[in-house]
Amino acid sequence: MKILDIMRERRSVRKFKDIAISESVINDILESAKLAPETDTCRYYFGVVTDDLIKNEIASATLYAEWVGKAPVIFVCCTDISWDIGEQKEDDYGVIGNKLRYTEEVVNFLRKNNNRKACKTLTLCTPVYIAAEHMILTAVSHNLRGCLVDFIDIERINKILELPEHITCQLLVPIGVADEKPKKKTVKSRTDMFFYNKWN
Ligand SMILES: Cc1cc2nc3c(=O)[nH]c(=O)nc-3n(C[C@H](O)[C@H](O)[C@H](O)COP(=O)(O)O)c2cc1C
Repeated sequence: MKILDIMRERRSVRKFKDIAISESVINDILESAKLAPETDTCRYYFGVVTDDLIKNEIASATLYAEWVGKAPVIFVCCTDISWDIGEQKEDDYGVIGNKLRYTEEVVNFLRKNNNRKACKTLTLCTPVYIAAEHMILTAVSHNLRGCLVDFIDIERINKILELPEHITCQLLVPIGVADEKPKKKTVKSRTDMFFYNKWN
């Protein structure tokens, strides 16, 4: 299937059949995660959770997403939060880049704030979403479906999975054979979604 056809097929699915996912498909999904772009300061880690007890514990640490416990596999997307913006020199590439993006005021606040873990999670969380979408699209190419789930109790899931201090969970990607059939996404009739060169 062409990548655009896979994207056309993708919809978020929250009901799964009780069918296990083969090891080779799991490995394909993990390879697609590996192929995602990483930043210099943010290494990714992926948990593959198939144990029912652990899945249910994870499910209970979500906001209204208990259904993730019924997915045959939950991929847990995690990041290494060792890089600490508070420990870098003023001329560090990461400090300069974050100031450019989030303003000097916000970065200086983060650099001085004592809750280091919260600060690190803030500056390092987004890139792993790219890997998560790679995984979903690879799943679709195998006629599986899934959903990105990030309204989760990160601290609790870190504990459940016994993650080391420098690794934190960021989002879940439950995957399985769909037991619901959401309508195919129609190409948006919106004409205001794109702009060329300048807004006006
Ligand atoms: C960044 C992100 C986080 C999401 N988190 C959740 C979540 O916590 N729980 C959930 O049920 N769906 C979650 N979703 C799925 C969205 O609800 C879903 O993508 C949206 O309704 C559009 O439907 P579609 O994916 O079928 O196009 C998330 C989606 C994105 C992009």
